[in-house]
Amino acid sequence: IVTAGPTWEALDPVRGLTNHSSGRMGYALASALQDAGAAITLISGPAALHPPYGVNCIRITSAEEMAESVMANIATCDIFVGVAAVADYRPVVSAEQKIKKNSETLTLALVRNPDILAMVAALDNAPFTVGFAAETENVTSNAEKKLTAKGIDMIAANPVSGDNSAFNSDSNELTLIDKNGISHLSRCSKPLLAQKLTKEIARRYYETYPAKDS
Ligand code: CTP
Repeated sequence: IVTAGPTWEALDPVRGLTNHSSGRMGYALASALQDAGAAITLISGPAALHPPYGVNCIRITSAEEMAESVMANIATCDIFVGVAAVADYRPVVSAEQKIKKNSETLTLALVRNPDILAMVAALDNAPFTVGFAAETENVTSNAEKKLTAKGIDMIAANPVSGDNSAFNSDSNELTLIDKNGISHLSRCSKPLLAQKLTKEIARRYYETYPAKDS
């Protein structure tokens, strides 16, 4: 399973909270993993992309829908890669009708969304679980904290601010962290980076589960 793209947390029928994720990294990774022989379910938030040919693509809108879809498909999953930029919070209430501008200020009350990656990693029989970390500062140390806090096998950290932002860009670079240490995949196109990351995931997966069929 690969999750990709942003999520959209509706405020009312015409507005919502979202982010700059284009889905390109997740779609490229789904394609590269498929080329390496995996049967892929791509669970995607709103993205203006065609899924790679042959990939089972499930389109969802909100983080809660993404969590539901992941959990409905996780039983047969060997490797889970959370590339999606999941919204951490959603409005407490999504208004049924368009919110009118009746006052000078408007305060939004938000509630935490489920952490899909942490939920997957905490399952009995959890798949090999890979996270992404979108960071605007202290990329490596923040990603190391996420690796531990979420109890995942590996994390790929990317910068999401400034000239080198991964968001809405054709290229990206990744810092890979697992229990054995840190390595770096230097900046290149997202499809090429996805191929390199696929090799890194596959190597670690077969190190973790040597009995699995390669
Ligand atoms: N993630 C998730 N569910 C969430 C939030 C994040 O599954 N509700 C996953 C993302 O798909 C990614 C990883 O967690 O693989 C890290 O996402 P990121 O946005 O970098 O970090 P957060 O956990 O949201 O922490 P923070 O926003 O505080 O940096």
